[in-house]
Amino acid sequence: MEYRKLIKSAREAQKKSFSPFSNFKVGAALMTKEGKIFTGTNIECASYSLTMCAERNAVFQAYFAGEREFKAIAVACDTEEHCSPCGACRQALAELCGEDLEVIMLNINDEPKIMTMKELLPMAFTKEALK
Ligand code: THU
Repeated sequence: MEYRKLIKSAREAQKKSFSPFSNFKVGAALMTKEGKIFTGTNIECASYSLTMCAERNAVFQAYFAGEREFKAIAVACDTEEHCSPCGACRQALAELCGEDLEVIMLNINDEPKIMTMKELLPMAFTKEALK
């Protein structure tokens, strides 16, 4: 699967980051199974815990548009380390996008590291547990 367009979309989204406190800019681009792309960036609040990550903003945009089936998400940041979704985002992605979602983590050089949600969050708590 060619993810060049998805990676470019994540980089574009990253430019819109509102992160005056951390100055850590993150961009996310989520692709549906049909190939539609929804993007998000991190938005920070002075009351820090109200900050919302790029990944969850992208997922919520897609859900708002009625999308429910997803193929991959690209996450971009500007560090040498690959941008790995935080714990809260892993939970949201596992629940809302499924354990087969491919997570394309990028470093500053756009070198991708690809893992599935299942690998990033084994034994996720999902709605199946409530049955
Ligand atoms: N951040 C994300 O947007 N995604 C992640 O997976 C990790 C962290 C944001 C939240 C905050 O605005 C900044 O990065 C520093 O934690």
